[in-house]
Amino acid sequence: MTELNRNAAHNANGMPRVLEGKVIIVTGAGGGIGRESCRVLAAAGARLVISDRSESEGQATLALLNADGYEANFVEADVGSEASVQALVARTLALHGRLDGAFNNAGVEAANKPLAELTLAEWEHGIRIDLTGVFLCMKYQIPAMLANGGGSIVNTASGLARIAVPCQAEYISAKSGVAGLTRAAAMDYGARGIRVNAILPGVIRTPMIARLSEMPETAAMFNHARQRHILQRFGEPSEIGEAAKWLLSDAASFVQGAEIVVDGGFLAN
Ligand SMILES: NC(=O)c1ccc[n+]([C@@H]2O[C@H](COP(=O)([O-])OP(=O)(O)OC[C@H]3O[C@@H](n4cnc5c(N)ncnc54)[C@H](O)[C@@H]3O)[C@@H](O)[C@H]2O)c1
Repeated sequence: MTELNRNAAHNANGMPRVLEGKVIIVTGAGGGIGRESCRVLAAAGARLVISDRSESEGQATLALLNADGYEANFVEADVGSEASVQALVARTLALHGRLDGAFNNAGVEAANKPLAELTLAEWEHGIRIDLTGVFLCMKYQIPAMLANGGGSIVNTASGLARIAVPCQAEYISAKSGVAGLTRAAAMDYGARGIRVNAILPGVIRTPMIARLSEMPETAAMFNHARQRHILQRFGEPSEIGEAAKWLLSDAASFVQGAEIVVDGGFLAN
């Protein structure tokens, strides 16, 4: 390999650029996991379309990427709105002419009530964003990927797709649904070149967790949860980004319909 080729294949830190040139949408890119994942994916060579329903948080992620020396585009979108998701994918195609990958990561926390105290509106809000949002993203991303021969989709589920903790009925239901929807999409489109997988994070240090762990009704649960992580700590957002990078890359070419657990041993304990 010539010196020039070696440089092109690696970033400034000497890491391989395994996503070189791939056009990838990241939703929830203004949040904890989304923002750090964008930095990981950009460093691997991805051409990112970063999206969030929060213009200010999305722009802050874009500014960070630019400061790191990476170009990207921000598109404001609400994953709970079909028109908004459709426009996000259309804008991506207008910008880049193709779509190779998606990290469907936007999500909201539960209302933190026992099931019978949840209002129908609270239930529907959680399901709309955390489950229907992933459906809508895939509904519009898949045709765009088929048009260029395939792609890779990574959906953020949760360890709570496998186990229950108190007062999370709509979140547990939505994230279990994301795991099932991931398998369904993997089944429907695998033969046509689209890989679809889910990441099941443990507790990751993000604004969502900061909000939840400060609530008196959930603080004790988070203390208990920390001890349940075999590594005796919560995860960092970039540790989810690293898993997403691998799944989005051709290195994960035989991984399909999988639930990739990235949780410091939370589910194994
Ligand atoms: N942090 C954790 O411990 C943890 C664990 C398991 C799963 N998750 C999941 O990881 C994902 C990211 O969580 P996080 O911890 O980074 O949370 P976060 O609150 O820091 O970020 C979530 C982002 O999603 C955006 N968002 C919310 N609703 C949206 C909508 N309707 N349309 C578009 N964007 C929207 C928010 O503006 C925010 O920027 C979520 O799906 C979450 O459920 C997080």
